[in-house]
Amino acid sequence: ARSALLSGVEPDDLSRDPAVDAPLGLTFPDGFVWGAATSAYQIEGAAKDDGRGESVWDTYSHTPGRTRNGDTGDVAVDHYHRYPEDLDLMRELGLGSYRFSISWPRIQADGTGEPNQRGLDFYRRIVDGLLERGIEPMATLFHWDTPQALQDQGGWEARDTAYRFAEYAEHVFAALGDTVPVWLTVNEPKTVVQNGYITGHHAPGTRDEPLAYQVAHHLQLGHGLAVQALRASGGASRIGPAFNLHPCYPADDSAAAAAAAHLYDGYENRLYLDSALRGHYPEDVLADQGPDSPLARSIRDGDLAIIAQPIDLLAVQYYTPYYVTGDGSIESERRHATSEAFWQQIYPDGMYDILTRVTREYGPLPLTVTENGLPCPDVLGPEDDIDDVERVSFLRDHFAAAHRAIADGVPLESYHVWSLLDNFEWDQGYEERWGLVYVDYATQRRIFKRSAHWYKRVIADNTV
Ligand code: NOJ
Repeated sequence: ARSALLSGVEPDDLSRDPAVDAPLGLTFPDGFVWGAATSAYQIEGAAKDDGRGESVWDTYSHTPGRTRNGDTGDVAVDHYHRYPEDLDLMRELGLGSYRFSISWPRIQADGTGEPNQRGLDFYRRIVDGLLERGIEPMATLFHWDTPQALQDQGGWEARDTAYRFAEYAEHVFAALGDTVPVWLTVNEPKTVVQNGYITGHHAPGTRDEPLAYQVAHHLQLGHGLAVQALRASGGASRIGPAFNLHPCYPADDSAAAAAAAHLYDGYENRLYLDSALRGHYPEDVLADQGPDSPLARSIRDGDLAIIAQPIDLLAVQYYTPYYVTGDGSIESERRHATSEAFWQQIYPDGMYDILTRVTREYGPLPLTVTENGLPCPDVLGPEDDIDDVERVSFLRDHFAAAHRAIADGVPLESYHVWSLLDNFEWDQGYEERWGLVYVDYATQRRIFKRSAHWYKRVIADNTV
């Protein structure tokens, strides 16, 4: 069964090689922070507790045929009730930072109006529990769970949603304020744009490519308004966006592939980076969309100044590179080992390339890696062992790439593995396991995988 795990991996890499755990001897700078990440809908469950409203993901996952096995986040890993145990797991791992997200419909069931105190109290318990254990909270304001009531009024297609988002952010800042040292605004706007509005395999399941870029503009606007809201609150915390960046390499040496890869990069990376950090959208993307496009028509005077509010740090999420052919499509043949996630090729140098590139082109700017990880078909062994050697080697090689980027001057301050626990992987449901910690879904028992034991030592030694 093991040989089917990673379709492109050489058989040698699949041996149960103990050497994979051996330190490479790469020590990180003093003060470097090791963390792990999760998001609300993927772990909390308790979908109807304490006044939580519905989000687009409740609707989507309950629509037949949308998710693998019809899985939903109704129960997930029941983190809403089991959070004390999960906080203890984090302490056991030795995490320095925990990145989680706040569920908008727990704070405002319908996406507007007075905040729900019981929702705020839950996150206060999380934050206090982290601080008591010496773990820094890092909170994402939006990890895709748009209140369904706002979706019914257009969701992120509507400009108004960006303003509703800023009001929600104000409530969260007022309640949690400086207890959260780092806020992230919008998680992976590109994924909402591409999966939610182009391919439709994420909520809300729309397929309308021109419209998708109007959604992109409103998500970016929401980001900028949330940054303004934090500054207006007088808070001393830091804030930034969380972008999933994909290095886009030309598939061959032709001029056509170089040009196509550049435009592809515009849609994957510069659309978000240029607007947030330079105050303009990339000319090539604007030209490609055209002057009458929903993107062009949704941009109003002053919007780019809002979107480009000064930020304190940039959160980078890296999973896979793309190779772009002369006709502008992604090369179908795979160059590197692939993972269980159909879209992922394992290429640690891509981490180095993307970190050094953002520093060169958009820096100097403090960076944090807020996601990086690998799904594995983890099997619970007879002695509660989960031998996810592929995840250990994946993380080791990506950590090494980050170490090399730091050595070359990248101001990377922290690194969060996706994910702390196995969880609801969106349209893929529970079959794709991304955690350092295994969850036995029948009993909700949590069990450290080999990667968790390994990561614990990395953290303790600050050395890979
Ligand atoms: C990005 C997303 O932010 C997260 O929710 C997802 O589970 C991981 N990537 C893995 O696909």
